[in-house]
Amino acid sequence: MERPEIGEVVYTEEQIRSKVGDLARRITEDYREGAEGSPLLLIGILKGAFIFLADLARLIDVPLEFDFMAISSYGSATKTSGVVRILKDLDKDITGRHVLLVEDIIDTGLTLNYLLRSLTARGPASLEICALLNKQVANKVELPVKYEGFSIPDVFVVGYGLDCAESYRNLPYIASVKK
Ligand code: IMP
Ligand code: MG
Repeated sequence: MERPEIGEVVYTEEQIRSKVGDLARRITEDYREGAEGSPLLLIGILKGAFIFLADLARLIDVPLEFDFMAISSYGSATKTSGVVRILKDLDKDITGRHVLLVEDIIDTGLTLNYLLRSLTARGPASLEICALLNKQVANKVELPVKYEGFSIPDVFVVGYGLDCAESYRNLPYIASVKK
């Protein structure tokens, strides 16, 4: 397949697999205690987190439930608008639940900052963030990211769920995009 826009591979399949395993082990340890209550609720942020969430969840060894939110904070390509819109809200109430937000990538932090506030107001028992990638950018909103996969330079990346104008989400590795 022709992929003229794809640049360097930033993280290989093997590197991603190993990192996702580490994160899943930590999450399993941290939530094992609370297993008497209702299952940990993983909230996937669509669409970017769908592949990460699927791989991560299969390696977490505590009971889980799933819900999804769809958010729009970007236009079609690579520029942030700063405007966050909820396109799809959660199906169920999260009051009293242990919640783990699963996100593909944090750039400015605006999206998760908004979500964190919105979800905190609903009274969960706990609320943590798991992000596969965290970009080193200026003017970042400070977020309590408990589970971080990779800290990456400020380059636009695709693959493993991440898109550029909806393409390349199915690449099994993470790669940069040519200008
Ligand atoms: P933030 O609100 O600036 O933190 O942006 C977060 C969202 O922007 C992520 O959920 C992604 O959907 C998108 N995004 C940010 N950087 C990239 C990237 O390098 N590739 C693909 N999507 C990105
Ligand atoms: Mg996203």
